[in-house]
Amino acid sequence: MTAHIIDGKAFAAQVRARVADQVAMLKDQHDLTPGLAVVLVGEDPASQVYVRSKGKLTVEVGMASFEHRLDAGTPQSDLLALIARLNADPEIHGILVQLPLPSHIDSDLVINAIDPAKDVDGFHISNVGLLGTGQKSMVPCTPLGCLMMLRAHHGSLSGMNAVVVGRSNIVGKPMAQLLLGDSCTVTIAHSRSKDLPAICRGADILVAAVGRPEMIPGDWVKPGATVIDVGINRVAHGDKTKLVGDVHFESAAQVAGAITPVPGGVGPMTIACLLANTVTAACRAHG
Ligand code: GUN
Repeated sequence: MTAHIIDGKAFAAQVRARVADQVAMLKDQHDLTPGLAVVLVGEDPASQVYVRSKGKLTVEVGMASFEHRLDAGTPQSDLLALIARLNADPEIHGILVQLPLPSHIDSDLVINAIDPAKDVDGFHISNVGLLGTGQKSMVPCTPLGCLMMLRAHHGSLSGMNAVVVGRSNIVGKPMAQLLLGDSCTVTIAHSRSKDLPAICRGADILVAAVGRPEMIPGDWVKPGATVIDVGINRVAHGDKTKLVGDVHFESAAQVAGAITPVPGGVGPMTIACLLANTVTAACRAHG
């Protein structure tokens, strides 16, 4: 069997087209231009790539993009002062502080300084609590993108066994909450889980978000399962590098019913969902 390849790139283009229509309508009918501020502290190369890409796509859908690039040595108090200004700025509806932050900065403190209504990452403790209790919240972009692809592929997810490998606040935990909200039976597994292969083999839906290149081989995948690969790992490839996921794609694609590729799977959906969250924030702010 060869798996259906879930085309995240094409799906993300559709989501962005819908966002662009909504932005045009907000401008036309409400004189409202959604604005997204992205804050990058330091020069982490991967973060720079993401931030550039976010800025470009924000402008492409017709929204206003505000980029703040700060030195790696920026004091925490300066970053907090910037967030306070962005919170108070009516032209800004979404604020994203790119993670990871330099080690002298307390990431939790910074994230929780963002106005929860502008927290388009969904990382603020209020949004985490709202999501966990099934209330209206900002939903973290990567898990939201994964859920959209799963719903599009399966329709209903009700009753399915979902295994999320990885317990990060950014992906693993909110992903599990979203799957639970769609009535899956959810297991969160991680590097310390006993007999991880057996846990994975029980999954109808397997979400890999561990950040270890090609850690999950095909023989951990249940025949016909849907595999969502959140990993983006740069590895050596001859004298160059290439991107691989947390799943060993070639072997998993022989067993799975459907699988997301890396690149071109979850990655593009993350930014599309960020743009969608910014429109949602702008609409809520406008009343
Ligand atoms: N770094 C890696 N992924 C993310 C994300 O989704 N949001 C932010 N703010 N930083 C990240």
